[in-house]
Amino acid sequence: MSIRGPVWHPFTQHATASAPVLTARGEGAFLVTAEGRRIFDAISSWWVITHGHCHPRIVAAIQAQAEKLDQVIFAGFTHEPAERLARLLLGVAPRGLSHVFFSDSGSTAVEVGMKMALGYFRNRGEARTRVVALEHAYHGDTIGTMSAGARGIFNQPYAPLLFDVLRIPYPSASGSASASPSPSASASASAAPLTATSSEAQQKTVDALEAACRRGDVAALVVEPLLLGAGGMLVYSPRVLRALKDVCERHGVLFVADEVLTGWGRTGTLFACEQANVEPDILCMAKGLTGGTLPLAATLCRPEIFDAHYSPDRSRAFFHSSSYTANPIACAAAVANLEVWATEPVRERIAKLVSMQSERLEPFRDDPRFESVRQIGTVAALDIKARDPGYLADMGPFLYAFFMSRDVLLRPLGNTVYLMPPYGSTGEDLDRAYEAIREAVDAIAAVRGDAAWDPR
Ligand SMILES: Cc1ncc(COP(=O)(O)O)c(C=O)c1O
Repeated sequence: MSIRGPVWHPFTQHATASAPVLTARGEGAFLVTAEGRRIFDAISSWWVITHGHCHPRIVAAIQAQAEKLDQVIFAGFTHEPAERLARLLLGVAPRGLSHVFFSDSGSTAVEVGMKMALGYFRNRGEARTRVVALEHAYHGDTIGTMSAGARGIFNQPYAPLLFDVLRIPYPSASGSASASPSPSASASASAAPLTATSSEAQQKTVDALEAACRRGDVAALVVEPLLLGAGGMLVYSPRVLRALKDVCERHGVLFVADEVLTGWGRTGTLFACEQANVEPDILCMAKGLTGGTLPLAATLCRPEIFDAHYSPDRSRAFFHSSSYTANPIACAAAVANLEVWATEPVRERIAKLVSMQSERLEPFRDDPRFESVRQIGTVAALDIKARDPGYLADMGPFLYAFFMSRDVLLRPLGNTVYLMPPYGSTGEDLDRAYEAIREAVDAIAAVRGDAAWDPR
């Protein structure tokens, strides 16, 4: 098995991977191959598709915009889709945000967020240049966002280029891995203060941020709210998020919410920060911003951050751009996405998916071959007990191939299997995915002749 064609695929070892699937169409929750195989897209094609593939309203908006204005330099020019989109985003985002900076991927959205934070303090004449980030974080694959992300096999070769960040521990203990199936259940926990009854791990995280902030040189905390995605689908409590924001507020440190994964309904609410009553200073979004159809990202900020760059002195401008900043077709797709949210029962679909996921996860809680069965909103995850659970363990590729043989796209992170399906997925679609997980674990035992998990 190897891939020898001219195309170099992401996060793919070409020497061991099997041929990529030639995909012809996307239809709702399904990918349709050139031969007509229908594959359930149980990870929303790397977490981007929200309503389903090729939503007609979004497709129509793309077609209409492509005939009018395809691309325009975004310095010195603007256009209706971007102006409209900015206004709509500020209307749905957490309060306090006033300006929208467009870019084209989740990585650039976060990179822009960190640059905004550093520019803010520099233009105010404050020597704050440090970023704080969580253990197991993932913020993208640019040099800046890899620096904020956890260090490991993904970025080891580039370590000499990465800048140091202050790392605070993941709040791993009680509650963090439990289900929070309903958005309202999570939201109700959010207002509670972090009390002495909270776990030690949670307190350790908050204390570590407090200690980092006391140094006086911290510009920003960059954080994936409530769910660390690529770091292992690790869930933590809204109370911790709220407590982290409180620490930032006390020390004048900017709170940068990376909602690239969690935004657009994945965790049950439009943005995960809502569940913790957190109003971030900077909010980064991408993926589901266009319903997942086109690459577009936005970094929203509070007025003070914009104002710190607003000056007769041209050297204080915000120096960031990419050629496709605010591409009109992508902006039109995002406007159409917001119209879908406004006019279709998206929240009801999400609520249904949340409960369908939790029903199907339930039996796995009593299955000794699994651990850390967890859910937040529409996202479900479970770990297969393994002797060698790392990302490079054989189990990941075995599972991927097994699921594909059942026409289910699931791409485990090592021994962590997660499901993040589009919101229109049906109970039958989910049944197929969960059945495949059960069968895969049976197959692991059969293939290896012993249990692949610790009998503990
Ligand atoms: C939380 C988070 N931030 C940033 C990114 C990077 O986004 P992109 O792959 O669009 O650059 C991702 C991608 O998965 C992500 O999950």
